[in-house]
Amino acid sequence: MKFFIDTANLDQIREAYEMGVLDGVTTNPSLMAKEGIKGTGSQQKHYVDICKIVQADVSAEVIATDYEGMIREGEELAALNPHIVVKVPCIADGIKAIKYFSGKEIRTNCTLVFSTGQALLAAKAGATYVSPFVGRLDDIGEDGIALVARIVEMYRYYGYETQVLAASIRNSRHIIQCVEVGADVATCPLSAIKGLLKHPLTDAGLQKFLEDYKSING
Ligand code: E4P
Repeated sequence: MKFFIDTANLDQIREAYEMGVLDGVTTNPSLMAKEGIKGTGSQQKHYVDICKIVQADVSAEVIATDYEGMIREGEELAALNPHIVVKVPCIADGIKAIKYFSGKEIRTNCTLVFSTGQALLAAKAGATYVSPFVGRLDDIGEDGIALVARIVEMYRYYGYETQVLAASIRNSRHIIQCVEVGADVATCPLSAIKGLLKHPLTDAGLQKFLEDYKSING
């Protein structure tokens, strides 16, 4: 399973990249706003800075919600750097735009997906990635991981090449659940990635090894 980091924070992206386990980055307008990146020019530069750090897939989201606007913005974003993946919302014009981008070999991430029906349309339009939002479904008492599992099963059954990118991941347990249901990618906050390392037996074992080493080597 590929690991993407879900942030626009350059320090966190660098830290995850330096761990050697990072396969890409996802951003969204809320994450860009959190970093205080204002204006189209600064935002475009920020996407390029992220691409330069990771040299791997970086999802950059369109703001337009109409077909022509999405095409214009998506083409501009895709021209910034070969690593850019154009993120498009799962609405009717978005599906149409994904179909257009797929014909132009511009890679896409169909975002804000909350049902298998939406994931079916994204795959039929030729999306590179589909992003079911796990945490936001859990927040309203639904089962986000079960949706990821249903999409994985549907794509395998019909042979769709669209990759299932589990988004809105909130913790390390979600990551393990994504592995268990066969998600292609999980996009996660840095804390959830680092959380995978934590185990009290690792800490206790390491402490004992170091103590025993010191007891004979001073
Ligand atoms: C990434 O592609 C999504 O936009 C992101 O994972 C949403 O996460 P949130 O539900 O924590 O805002």
